[in-house]
Amino acid sequence: MQILKWLILIAFLDSVNCFATTEAFAAVLDIFHDTRFHDTQMATALCITQYRFLQRNIGLTAREPALYESCPYSDWFLSVSEYATAQKVKLEFMYYVNRPDIIEALKSNPITHFDAESFISGSNYNLIQSRQTVFKSIKRLADIENDIGSIRQLIGQSIHTLQDFYSHTNWVEMGYKVINSRVGEDSYLGLPVNQPHIDACRACTKDEMSSGEQAEFNRIKSSIYNNLLLGLLDFSFDNVYVCRNNIIVNNFLTSGYYSSEVSVAPKPKGKCSHGGGTDSTDATCAPGGISKDADTFIFAPHYYLHSIAANLSVQATIRYFEDLRLSIGDEKLFGLIIGMSKYTSLAFVVDTTSSMQTSITATRLYVKSLLDNTPDDAMIFVTLFSDSGFSNIRQFSDKPEVMAYLFSFTPSGSDNNPGIVYNAILATAKFVPPETNIFIFTELKTMND
Ligand SMILES: *[C@@H]1O[C@H](CO)[C@@H](O)[C@H](O)[C@H]1NC(C)=O
Ligand SMILES: [Zn+2]
Repeated sequence: MQILKWLILIAFLDSVNCFATTEAFAAVLDIFHDTRFHDTQMATALCITQYRFLQRNIGLTAREPALYESCPYSDWFLSVSEYATAQKVKLEFMYYVNRPDIIEALKSNPITHFDAESFISGSNYNLIQSRQTVFKSIKRLADIENDIGSIRQLIGQSIHTLQDFYSHTNWVEMGYKVINSRVGEDSYLGLPVNQPHIDACRACTKDEMSSGEQAEFNRIKSSIYNNLLLGLLDFSFDNVYVCRNNIIVNNFLTSGYYSSEVSVAPKPKGKCSHGGGTDSTDATCAPGGISKDADTFIFAPHYYLHSIAANLSVQATIRYFEDLRLSIGDEKLFGLIIGMSKYTSLAFVVDTTSSMQTSITATRLYVKSLLDNTPDDAMIFVTLFSDSGFSNIRQFSDKPEVMAYLFSFTPSGSDNNPGIVYNAILATAKFVPPETNIFIFTELKTMND
């Protein structure tokens, strides 16, 4: 077990050198309690978004998954390829939402994280801009298919910033129990940002830890394994505080300064820190911090507000996807982005040589039974091949026409050219939409070799 942990750790340190709020951390460090990392929040928000897509488009009647429940794809009657796509796109978004904590240029920029009070408006402005870029770049199916990876990356990055609003600003401390729908949408956040010369935080002291928290602190600090691991992350136990009521501005937005952003945003006196063991700014006035990134004070001085911040963050993420859907106004395009297909598409590659004489009837019956269970708006493709080559790949939107086409020939001609079947399959696979299920009917012996 320990060996496995070290292997994960080594792979992990390769890409991360400061605290990134990702599930990978929980795999090596056993101190996170119920932390909902950026990728956890993304996974649950996307699962619910995918569920609602299926509910609207294929009349899925299963119940909506609860927050943080593992996504019950297998209850949704997805085909193997649909299942794989939904899962793959989820993992892609989970990576992209973490990326701003991994890539140096994004990590050190307070604008990406709603950090450093005076950058709050900049974060919001940046988010509005990137949202508009995403919403505009999704115009046509062709654009999306060429560029879907970079669109998902931009969405993931925007959502990271959106999520940080709840864990890094004092929105939750002000008592709000609902999301701020202006974030990323309106250049005015609904309340003013604190002014530069007004103090935002008072000093937080080490003795604000309860005896239970102190005991946990001691337990973690005395573990050699934890020490070694945390030490590799520029971590210091001196930076660890639990803070309560240390925010002194009410009715004004503020957020904490962070040592990884010090070259862009050094912490002025009287401002709040992000806080946690990886933030050395919290040693300077005012000591302590306000982050709610994790369900542990080791990384988040306001860890006791993590759950509410994370839940709001998930709600805001769901809303982002919903806004995206409404802005696109096309379920099929939206489905492509979130890894769901609205239209079923099937392709049949059929051998017409004499070797099929005994099985052509069974083939036709099988295709007919598949079509009987396929929605009426399905896209259907048929490719016929013989020794001399293959037909144009024909697309049908009408099932009887498909059957008529399959009854239009009698199997005949030699069957000595097995290479042709591979060419026919390859050409069909290139022609049809990516999620198409392709069925191949041939008697050529090499297919089974
Ligand atoms: C956050 O959501 C989870 C799942 O619905 C719930 O169990 C938890 O109580 C919520 N936290 C707060 C603070 O409301
Ligand atoms: Zn962040």
